[in-house]
Amino acid sequence: MGKIRKAVFPVAGLGTRFLPATKASPKEMLPIVDKPLVQYAAEEAEDAGIDQLVFITGRNKRSIEDHFDKAYELEMELERSDKQQLLESVRTVLPSRVNCIYLRQTEALGLGHAVLCAQPVVGKEPFVVLLADDLIRGNGQGVVEQMMEMYGRYGCSILSVMEVPQDETDKYGIVETRSGPDGELRVVSIVEKPTLADAPSNLAVVGRYLLTSGIFDHLRRTRPGAGGEIQLTDAIAALLAEEPVIAYPFRGKRYDCGSKLGYLEATVEYGLAHPELGASFADYLRRVVH
Ligand code: UTP
Repeated sequence: MGKIRKAVFPVAGLGTRFLPATKASPKEMLPIVDKPLVQYAAEEAEDAGIDQLVFITGRNKRSIEDHFDKAYELEMELERSDKQQLLESVRTVLPSRVNCIYLRQTEALGLGHAVLCAQPVVGKEPFVVLLADDLIRGNGQGVVEQMMEMYGRYGCSILSVMEVPQDETDKYGIVETRSGPDGELRVVSIVEKPTLADAPSNLAVVGRYLLTSGIFDHLRRTRPGAGGEIQLTDAIAALLAEEPVIAYPFRGKRYDCGSKLGYLEATVEYGLAHPELGASFADYLRRVVH
């Protein structure tokens, strides 16, 4: 079983739910307190030992490349004014062992299409996909690392899942599962954005996937599905006929930062947990919330 070294970040979506903020800049650059969403996701992958970050970018995504690039002038200025802590925060955005690769998705044809764009770089290795707008605070261990442990045990594709309210199944890919020999959840079927009546369960796939390279053949054959987009879910449904896929209820809390409410919730909770700001932010909230 090969080591997983590559993480794919599809960041070419249009982010329409967050307009006008996303008119000229990507939603993955929206900050939660003091770091952009994409940096939280990159750190989660790096903490799991990933050393190649593959970004699938589109128009307006230049700021992501700049964020992970060296900022000579800024570093010189911070050094000159002896702002060591800030200098450190800028220098450590990307650890030196980690490389970034940028590929372009010229048209936003869907998440499945974005993942297919990574094939020339990923090749035949298993890899992880992180959707940075799903911010997940792991319980002591990042979700990618948790999924890698599952991969170490089962050697197959793993989908991160969580229970969602019954009336929200039409926002997610939903899985039907059966228990395997160790109590692991084997995926039996998967369907994109089913209505309440059609949903096989309320177990929803959220933005972390560990996939074998077998997915690429299916992505190439996948026709536009829900919303006219090439859906990763449809390719996973086809993969299921050939390979086992496991649903993994991760340990941690997920914030849907692609939606305004989820973004605000993450901002409040990360603000309260912030080592420097937490206490005064809590005081402030007590004063304004009645
Ligand atoms: P979303 O479903 O959140 O779509 O995509 P979106 O366009 O980003 O946002 P809304 O729904 O219009 O507000 C899920 C993930 O897939 C990426 C997005 O960047 C996001 O991380 N994506 C989606 C692509 O990279 N390319 C696409 O063609 C579509």
